[in-house]
Amino acid sequence: MTKLKYLVLVTLLAACSSAKKQGSQAGLYNEPHRPQIHFSQQKAWMNDPNGMVYFNNQYHLFYQYYPDSTIWGPMHWGHATSKDLVYWEHQPVALFPDSLGYIFSGSAVADVNNTSGFGSGGKTPLVAIFTHHDPKGEKAGSATFQNQSLAYSLDDGKTWTKYANNPVLKNPGIRDFRDPKVMWYDAGKKWIMTLATLDHITFYSSPDLKNWTEESKIGKDFGAHGGVWECPDLFPLDYNGQQVWILIVNINPGGPNGGSATQYFTGQFDGKTFKPYQTDTRWLDYGPDEYAGITWSNTGNRKIFLGWMSNWQYANLVPTDRWRSATTVPRDLGLEKIGDKFIVTSKPVDELKTLFTTSATAGNIDATNYDLRERLGKIAGPFKMQVTADKIESFAFTFSNNIGEKLVVGFDKAANNYYIDRTNSGKVDFEKGFAKRHTAPRLLNKENLDLTLVVDNASIELFADNGTAVMTAIFFPNRIYSNIKIESPDHLVIKSLQLTRMKSIWK
Ligand code: FRU
Repeated sequence: MTKLKYLVLVTLLAACSSAKKQGSQAGLYNEPHRPQIHFSQQKAWMNDPNGMVYFNNQYHLFYQYYPDSTIWGPMHWGHATSKDLVYWEHQPVALFPDSLGYIFSGSAVADVNNTSGFGSGGKTPLVAIFTHHDPKGEKAGSATFQNQSLAYSLDDGKTWTKYANNPVLKNPGIRDFRDPKVMWYDAGKKWIMTLATLDHITFYSSPDLKNWTEESKIGKDFGAHGGVWECPDLFPLDYNGQQVWILIVNINPGGPNGGSATQYFTGQFDGKTFKPYQTDTRWLDYGPDEYAGITWSNTGNRKIFLGWMSNWQYANLVPTDRWRSATTVPRDLGLEKIGDKFIVTSKPVDELKTLFTTSATAGNIDATNYDLRERLGKIAGPFKMQVTADKIESFAFTFSNNIGEKLVVGFDKAANNYYIDRTNSGKVDFEKGFAKRHTAPRLLNKENLDLTLVVDNASIELFADNGTAVMTAIFFPNRIYSNIKIESPDHLVIKSLQLTRMKSIWK
């Protein structure tokens, strides 16, 4: 879509202030499989979250967007804002393709010291650093069709100006050279760009976001390499006063359950090189449907992560009509130590509590064969479920409808893994690899169980063992699941189970 065409359209549709109105006025957000507690764009295609930055009490979420189709195409940056990470307001498209190419993934920073000189009149510039992907160059067989560019905003992200001297970081001849994630490295008073460069990461530094110097490269010889490295992130987390650096590297394909997934490394970063603590491969989310996940910038010590809730293996084929894809729930990242390993933990952000409505609790349940619907009533929409047990045993929760479609989520003690089985979950035959049982290893070797499930109309997110075991999966039942049953051949005793219904963010 051209910028002009788009502006005419936006003016015609204008004047909806809240996301709720924006959704319901257009009759949107009622479609079958439409997520109710997750962000999704109003229409058309979305993939990676981009440019996530917190500024002036607002969370900005930009995203890979193709407004003309529900299939991936010439990339724009769509835009939404939120005051609480829960309710989102749609904003006009921020960046349009131009003569240098499509606008691929990247990040945004608040340049509070005006190092870039883009600020004026005392206004802090928001600066977006993104990949220009030139489709003509790609077609012509060039190896230098991906380059890094800048755009800035002086009105809180509402309108953007592309830098006149783009690109600012030219491709040295690496076909996959993209997805810059930029952070301010205060100890060295410089910007650090973490860039995915085919099968490794290259770090660059800059005093002003415009001039970049290569610092180091890492990753060819460790981690998962079943596919190309994409969408990295770099940030420190605190573990009892110890600073541990986390390098996130998304990879496609080659994920633990097929297709796209997010791996991470722990280590040290000194402004120049990243020294990993580990040689093994670790995944932030073992499920099939969290990809391109990275964190918000400018949030202080809190690190909030958001992923695209799909997988390149079938993202263009999923059975939704007017839109395709959603994001995961935002997650707080933390650290847990298992033996001498640092494990990155994920937990749904507390802000989601604003959506809680009625809550039903049950305690001391013999889970051998238990119909939760009889005890807790029907489910008919999004909910959060929290389960604890003093002694973990194999168990399976079955969420089902009355036409025989079901999603089974459980723990297999012999295999020591959690699983989500969507083999008979509803519409599954749009892609041959979709109908599967996916697993995540249990890393924490402890007696008790703590499990949180966040369930929307077409997705489940599993967080177990203090956030060390995480899985995300999407599904497409022909009718919303309304029954819950739990079975445990080993007679799991559930200490407490709390089911909290959640209201829609769009209605
Ligand atoms: C990841 C990705 C990025 C790229 C973008 C294109 O999903 O392939 O590497 O910038 O999507 O839409």
